[in-house]
Amino acid sequence: MRIMDRTLIAPSILAADFLHLEEAARIVNSHADIFHLDVMDGTFVPNISFGFPVVEALARVAEKPMDVHLMIVHPEKYVERFAKAGASMISFHEEAAEADGTDPAGILKLIRSFGVHPGLVVNPDIPVEKLFPYLEFCDYVLIMSVYAGFGGQKFIEESYGKVRAARKEIVRRGLDVKIEVDGGVGPGNAGALVEAGAGILVAGSSVFKAEDPAAAIEALR
Ligand code: DX5
Ligand code: ZN
Repeated sequence: MRIMDRTLIAPSILAADFLHLEEAARIVNSHADIFHLDVMDGTFVPNISFGFPVVEALARVAEKPMDVHLMIVHPEKYVERFAKAGASMISFHEEAAEADGTDPAGILKLIRSFGVHPGLVVNPDIPVEKLFPYLEFCDYVLIMSVYAGFGGQKFIEESYGKVRAARKEIVRRGLDVKIEVDGGVGPGNAGALVEAGAGILVAGSSVFKAEDPAAAIEALR
């Protein structure tokens, strides 16, 4: 899978109706670019979402790449299973690895060893510079524009500056690393985020809570 060409829309399944996941998958397959799958463990974040059964079920119908966003402690323990479940992209939080005492570079390499695109994430209170030592090992970085844990939160305006700073550093070093933004993204800020340097926009509520999700994805584009 090539994730590097144009702005990609990644609807977050967390905001979908879990009784009708097949319908959510149909919407992503026909109108969007990537499945964004939020995995939470109730320890790294104060919420529990879903895990392997949901990812494996979606894999059976997904015609677009699956992007697994791990909001868990010790992500390295589960990389292989998510890769085997069908993930094309796997990201984890830099601050989780720091708290665990593990090396983010090693986990990024582990993800790549399964043929999966590796990504590193920072929460809003983590300086974007924390990503910089690992950019060589990343195919994408994920800048959280809300605190990881829940959908439907308000976009944090300071995120634009972090996207710009990440883009500046990626360009300066001549790297091919995509910038993903996640949290509170909708038609009101999508344009400015792309202008700042975002290449992948994650959108949960603004897509799946909309009257017409397909039109909401078009509005984001
Ligand atoms: C938050 C998740 C997000 C969330 C986005 O922890 O990482 O992906 O589902 O949802 P919205 O777009 O509603 O902020
Ligand atoms: Zn996410």
